[in-house]
Amino acid sequence: MNFKKRTNFLFGVLLLTGSLLAQNVCVSTPKTSLVLSAPEGGTLRHLYYGNRLSEADLQNISAAEANHAAYPEYGLNAPVETALAVKHADGNMTLQLEVLNVTTEKEGNAVTTVVALKDKVYPFFVNVCYRAWQDADVIESWTEISHQEKKPVVLNQFASGYLPIRRGDVWLSHLSGSWANEGVLTQEPLTPGMKVIKNKDGVRNSHTDHAEVMFSLDGRPQENTGNVIGAALCYSGNYKLRIETHDDEYHHFFAGINEENSTYSLKKDELFRTPELALTYSNEGLSGGSRNFHRWARLHKLAHGTTPRKILLNSWEGVYFDINQQGMDQMMADIASMGGELFVMDDGWFGDKYPRKNDSSSLGDWVVDKNKLPNGIEGLLSDAKKHGVKFGIWIEPEMANTTSELYEKHPDWVLKASERDVVLGRGGTQVVLDLANPAVQDFVFGVVDNLMTSYPEIDYIKWDANMSVQNHGSQYLTKDNQSHMYIEFHRGFEKICQRIRAKYPDLTIQACASGGGRANYGVLPYFDEFWVSDNTDALQRVYMQWGTSYFFPAIAMASHISAAPNHQTFRTIPLKYRIDVAMSGRLGMEIQPKNMTEEEKALCKNAIAEYKTIRPVVQLGDIYRLLSPYDKQGVASLMYVASEKDKAVFYWWKTEHFCNQHLPRVKMAGLCADKQYRVHELNRIDNVPLNYEGKSFSGAYLMANGLEIPYNHKVDYHKQNDYSSRVKVNLSGVKVRFMGTVGTVGTASLLSHTRMYINNVRVMK
Ligand code: GLA
Repeated sequence: MNFKKRTNFLFGVLLLTGSLLAQNVCVSTPKTSLVLSAPEGGTLRHLYYGNRLSEADLQNISAAEANHAAYPEYGLNAPVETALAVKHADGNMTLQLEVLNVTTEKEGNAVTTVVALKDKVYPFFVNVCYRAWQDADVIESWTEISHQEKKPVVLNQFASGYLPIRRGDVWLSHLSGSWANEGVLTQEPLTPGMKVIKNKDGVRNSHTDHAEVMFSLDGRPQENTGNVIGAALCYSGNYKLRIETHDDEYHHFFAGINEENSTYSLKKDELFRTPELALTYSNEGLSGGSRNFHRWARLHKLAHGTTPRKILLNSWEGVYFDINQQGMDQMMADIASMGGELFVMDDGWFGDKYPRKNDSSSLGDWVVDKNKLPNGIEGLLSDAKKHGVKFGIWIEPEMANTTSELYEKHPDWVLKASERDVVLGRGGTQVVLDLANPAVQDFVFGVVDNLMTSYPEIDYIKWDANMSVQNHGSQYLTKDNQSHMYIEFHRGFEKICQRIRAKYPDLTIQACASGGGRANYGVLPYFDEFWVSDNTDALQRVYMQWGTSYFFPAIAMASHISAAPNHQTFRTIPLKYRIDVAMSGRLGMEIQPKNMTEEEKALCKNAIAEYKTIRPVVQLGDIYRLLSPYDKQGVASLMYVASEKDKAVFYWWKTEHFCNQHLPRVKMAGLCADKQYRVHELNRIDNVPLNYEGKSFSGAYLMANGLEIPYNHKVDYHKQNDYSSRVKVNLSGVKVRFMGTVGTVGTASLLSHTRMYINNVRVMK
C-alpha cells in the first residue's frame, strides 16, 4: 500500500482526551456517515453508522454515542468476541493495536480512508480500510494485515469487518436454502446468544446460507419504511458471519473468511488482505437497502452492470447432453424467430477420447466432440450468424472427471489429501482442480483463452462449478501450508478471473454453480450475471427471486421460461405465468422450442418484444417490493421504477388459489405523486382488456390505492386452467399471472402494471 500517495487528512473534530489527540474520522456517502475515533497512539473506535450527519452533529457525536473498538483484537480483553486473533512468532497470543495515522485518497468516485494500526510492542500492522462511494450509499471495509516479526505469525481469526448495532427490536433478514431451493428468506428477531451464518463448501458459497444480511433496526422488517443496515461480504469462498448478543447494549456483528480449518501462517512482510465487507444504510426499509446494493452493484461491482442484457435461449433443459449440429441449428432458428438475441449451448459438446455423454466423464477435455458436431464450433458460429443471433458456450473449467485425458495426464492437479483415496463428486468421477497451483491456473485461463482466440465471435460463456471441495488436500501446497488450501483456491480463482477480464473485457460471463451456488459479490466483478437456480418452476421462482432480489439486481438474475410440466417440480404452470415470472429478471428461455405449439411460440414472441420495451426499467430501475410471497396472503407483488420515475413495471403473481378467496389490493410505491401514469397491460391473454387499460392515474392515487386486479383471466372456457388435486399436500399452488403496463405518451409518464390471470391450480404431491 502506497502511503506516500495518500494525504494526511483530519476529519471532523479534534478533541483533546487526556494526552491523546482524539481524531474523529467521518467516512461519508451521499446519504450515510460512518464515524470513527482515531486518536494517534490510542485505540481505533467505532462511534456511529447511520443517516449522514450534519457538521453540527458531527461536532458532538463523541458525547452522544457509546464507543467500541472498531476492529476488536484478541488478548487483553479476552472474554469478548473479536475480529482478529493471532499467535506471534514467539508464541504470544495477544494484540494491542494503536493508531499510527489516518490517510485518505480519492479514487474515481470513491474516497478511501485507511487507518494504520500497529501493535504497541510487536512489529505487527493492520490497516483498517474504508472505501466510501460518492455515487452509491455503500461503504466497503476491509483490512490489510502484515508484520515484520522474525518468523511467521499464525492468523487464527481474521474478519473483514465489525459493526456494533444498538439493541432494541432488531430483526435479521437472511437467505438460506439448498440446491433447487436457493434464496429462501428468513426474518427473525435477534436474541441473546450467537447467531452464526457460514459456508464450508470450498468452491460455491450461496446454495445454502448467503454471505449477505439485512438488519431492520425498528422492529419487524418492513419493505418500504424503517431503518435498515445491509451487509454483504464480497467473497467467493468459505465465510462466516457472527452476530453476538451478550450482556451489553449492542449486537456485535462480524463478517469475514471462515477461518475453520484455514489458519493462516503469515510470513514476514507478506500482506494478507481480507475481502471487502460492503455496508449500506437506508431509512426506506428493506427495499431501500436493496436499491442501495443494486445501484452500487450496477455501477461498481458487477461486470457491465449498466449494459442491458441479451435475451437468450439456453439448451440445457431442451436437450440436456443430447447436443448435435442439427439440433443446435434448429434451436438457434427458433430463438431467432421469437426475437431472442443469443443462443447458449450448454453441457455435452466436448470430449474426444472420452466423449461427454453424461456427467461421468470428460470435464477437462475442452475439445469438440466431432461425432456430435462435425463442423465444430465454426459450424455453430456460422449457423448463429445465419440466424442473426449471438452464440455462447458452457464450460466448467475448474473441474475434471477421473475419466478424462486431463486427469490421465495430470492426476497431481486435483485436490486430494495425501495418503488418502480421492473422494469423487458428480457422476461418481468428478474432482476439483487445485487452483492454488499456478500451472492449473494457466490451464484454466487457457480453457477460456483457447476458445476465445480460436473463436473470437463467442459472445457469452456459462461458467459452471458443480462440486464442493470434498478432499482437504492440495498436492501443490507444502505439508505445512495445507490449512491455506481454501484461501489459495479462491486467490487462484480470482487471479484467473482477472486474467480473463484483462484480455476479454467485453465477453459476457454467467456464474453458474449447480444453479445459484455463486450468487456473491466476490465473483460478480468478473461475471455479468448468475443462474439463480437449477429450479425453473415459476411459482418457486417467485420465492427464490424475491429473496435473491434483497441483495442482487434483476440485471444479474438469470430467469428463464421453461417447459411444463416443470423438470424439477413436475408442476404444470401455464405459459403466461412462466413468462410473467421470468420477465421480472434477466429474461431467457430454457426449453425445447420444437416441442412448443405455434400459439405458445407466438406468446413468447410477443413477450420478448414486450420485454424489450421494459428491459431498461427492469434491469436498470429501482426495485420496490410490495407484497411478499412469504406473507402468505395469496399474492406476491413488486415493481421496478425508472430513475426518472417516468416509467415503471408492476408485477402481481398469485401464489395460492381458492374459490371465492379474498386477496389484498396492492398499493404501488416509488412513483412520483404528481405525475400521471397511463396503465397498459403487457402479455395480455384475456379476451377483453382491463377496465382501466389505457387510462391515466396519478402516482399519488396509485401509491395510496393501487389498482384492483381481477383474480381470474377472462379467457375462453377451454383455455381456463384445470384444477387437479391430490391429497397430501403442503401447499396448494395457484398460479396466477398477470402483468400489465401503465404508461403515458409524449411528455407524460409511463408505468407498467401487471394484471392478473388465474392460471391453473393444482395441488402438489
Ligand atoms: C449444472 C447447471 C445447469 C447445467 C448443468 C450441466 O447443474 O446448474 O444449468 O448447466 O450443470 O451439466
